[in-house]
Amino acid sequence: NWTMDLFVETEIERIRQTVGPTGQVIGAVSGGVDSTVAAKLMQKAIGDRFHAILVDNGVMRLNECETVHKTLTQHLGINLTVVDASAEFLARLKGVEEPEQKRKIIGNLFIEVFQREADRVMKESGGNVDFLLQGTLYPDVIESLSFKGPSATIKTHHNVGGLPANMKLKVIEPLRELFKDEVRIMGTNLGIPEELVWRHPFPGPGIAIRIVGEVTPDQIRIARQADHIFISEIMAAGLYRQISQAYAALLPVRAVGVMGDKRVYDQCIALRAVTTTDYMTADWFDFDGKFLRKVSTRIVNEVDGVCRVLYDVTQKPPGTIEFQ
Ligand code: XMP
Repeated sequence: NWTMDLFVETEIERIRQTVGPTGQVIGAVSGGVDSTVAAKLMQKAIGDRFHAILVDNGVMRLNECETVHKTLTQHLGINLTVVDASAEFLARLKGVEEPEQKRKIIGNLFIEVFQREADRVMKESGGNVDFLLQGTLYPDVIESLSFKGPSATIKTHHNVGGLPANMKLKVIEPLRELFKDEVRIMGTNLGIPEELVWRHPFPGPGIAIRIVGEVTPDQIRIARQADHIFISEIMAAGLYRQISQAYAALLPVRAVGVMGDKRVYDQCIALRAVTTTDYMTADWFDFDGKFLRKVSTRIVNEVDGVCRVLYDVTQKPPGTIEFQ
């Protein structure tokens, strides 16, 4: 793709000009396509003078942190530090059930942890870090302009403009003129693995907003295992790219079941899979019965603590894509 190659070259040159010959940059990565493409661009421009930070908030998906770590370091050569802050996140989420409260706690602690890491990198660099990388896309720019007051914000999206105000860093946003499909083309051109380029979006607050009620280690285990089965089956059936976003939510509602010859009284998993282009409206994905039967059998048999599986057939609006 000639046009994209040219754009990449121009952008790399622009980054080099902005950062200068000795300047350094930090930035958070999540394993999503936007932050990874931005990070790869930065790595190509200034190598190890870019410091990527991945915060393990304890509510990422099964094996996600390890997978992202491996891809970014081994495959993409990015100078990455993983900060395991999961214990801190879980401690602050203890006893919290209200969705917006979960978002605030996770968003604020993310900023604290990131700031801490940034301070460490600053010290080690001898005061040479002046820039913060953000994977902001054009639609994010538009959205943050239109979300002016609390009444306009239905859910607080902490990954948009969620910058610590007291951080004296200049922001670099190399993707701010691009749409998602263009970022994917760029990612492919930059050698980013297909699975990552086509990854469904994943919210900053992670599975905390997919676990209704309190987020405990055992609830996280259940939600993770069920989600992993659902997504693996979607991939195995070749449906991943037809779906815009899919996940398993954990409902702390108990239902009666029979397992073997024992009566059980366990929780419910709700599967959600939607198609959408703009994420403002969405329709549920029309799986065939055979597929759903297979997934539900596997979840009930393999995930301890679940005895029922439901499929969410709510459109957006009125339903949102996430459960909380
Ligand atoms: P909803 O649930 O509002 O989701 O229909 C629309 C899109 O936004 C994502 N989402 C979030 N992303 N922090 C994020 O980074 C959040 O708090 C958040 N809430 C929703 C959701 O995954 C979907 O892609």
